[in-house]
Amino acid sequence: MLKKKLIGPFRQLLTMDKLQIKGALPDDVLEIIEDAGIVIEGDFIERIDKFQVLFDEYQGIEIEKISGSYVALPGFIDPHTHICWAGNRAIDYAMRLAGKSYIEIAKAGGGIWDTVIKTRAASEQELSNITVYRANQLLKDGITTIEVKSGYGLTVDDELKMLRAISAADKITEADLFSTCLAAHICPKDFWGSSTDYLAMMAEQLLPKVKEEGLANRVDIFIEDSAFSPEEALDYLMEARKMGFEIVVHADQFTTGGSKIATEADAISADHLEASEENEIKLLASKNTIPVALPGASIGLADPFTPARRLLDAGASLAIGSDWNPGSAPMGDLLVQAAILSMQQKLNTAETLAAITCRAAAALDLKDRGVLKEGNLADIIAFRLEDYREILYNQGRVKPEMVIKKGIKISSRDKNIMT
Ligand code: NIG
Ligand code: FE
Repeated sequence: MLKKKLIGPFRQLLTMDKLQIKGALPDDVLEIIEDAGIVIEGDFIERIDKFQVLFDEYQGIEIEKISGSYVALPGFIDPHTHICWAGNRAIDYAMRLAGKSYIEIAKAGGGIWDTVIKTRAASEQELSNITVYRANQLLKDGITTIEVKSGYGLTVDDELKMLRAISAADKITEADLFSTCLAAHICPKDFWGSSTDYLAMMAEQLLPKVKEEGLANRVDIFIEDSAFSPEEALDYLMEARKMGFEIVVHADQFTTGGSKIATEADAISADHLEASEENEIKLLASKNTIPVALPGASIGLADPFTPARRLLDAGASLAIGSDWNPGSAPMGDLLVQAAILSMQQKLNTAETLAAITCRAAAALDLKDRGVLKEGNLADIIAFRLEDYREILYNQGRVKPEMVIKKGIKISSRDKNIMT
């Protein structure tokens, strides 16, 4: 029998339970248990109730009594990152500060291509180490589940190297990593054929290997003038679907077209959407594809924010990801970015917290987390605050003091976690 443990009392515990996946949420739908306790058995939550009730009921089990005022929530989930990369793009960033655009820099040979060259030059071990390092930074900020994309290899072998590095990193970090194959990030400059030829090659040579080795269940594509056209993307995504991959799209970042393809390919999420307009918003609201806002990219590029308020009001869902990458979103602080988006777009507390918990879980098709309830993973974070509203009020600066991953307390705040 696994050991049981009672932890608490938490001054407030937000379960994030029973929230609909789509549409606007009133603040008062949040289920808040005061002076709450959680009984954990192994990796999972056995019970949540008032601490005193559990204390009386579970005589003789291990008790971790908390002193001080804590607000508990499900571990945060980042549904969109690119944390497996080598080098940095500080020079691009300085050029952007000096007035050059992301697209101009990419055309001049910088941008994603610059990171591809450095990532190709790195070994699988180096990439795994750096991914663990960044995942652990997110973990200590309370992000217990992290999606990670490939997309800086752009040859069959280099994409496999990235995905293997992510898989190796997942075995080391205590955060859960879920990988996505983004071989369709851009058509690499050294490819001999057209971008359509490149996609055909990846569909034929890479995706079967990814499946075979179980390196990713998701396939992503960047649909944009500077990357892939909507038409060629749809063919590629349909191929990927036939092979049993879940579909994700980098959509409507600078120009529209991507979200339409995302819905046609029945993508689980359409991410970015900074350029989405009325038609795209209506379309996304009418489907189950989850819009994922990436405020880190809006901040990094001084671009408009995703129209999150309008999406929710139209009836769409909304998750928020950090998009942590070396180019458009180098900050990698999900909570700060969610807090900024919430004020900029007037998302209330329920909508913002749902976007990085239960709705982010839905964007990754994960049913065992994002909500604190019996049977779910014991991924729990707790802020040393009096009231849950102080989380966004502090604009993301106050991080959780306590991070519990699968029932185990992570003490990475003070650990040197570079392996
Ligand atoms: O999500 N837009 C495309 N891909 C990334 C940026 C990658 C990079 O610039 O390295 C994004 O913003
Ligand atoms: Fe991205």
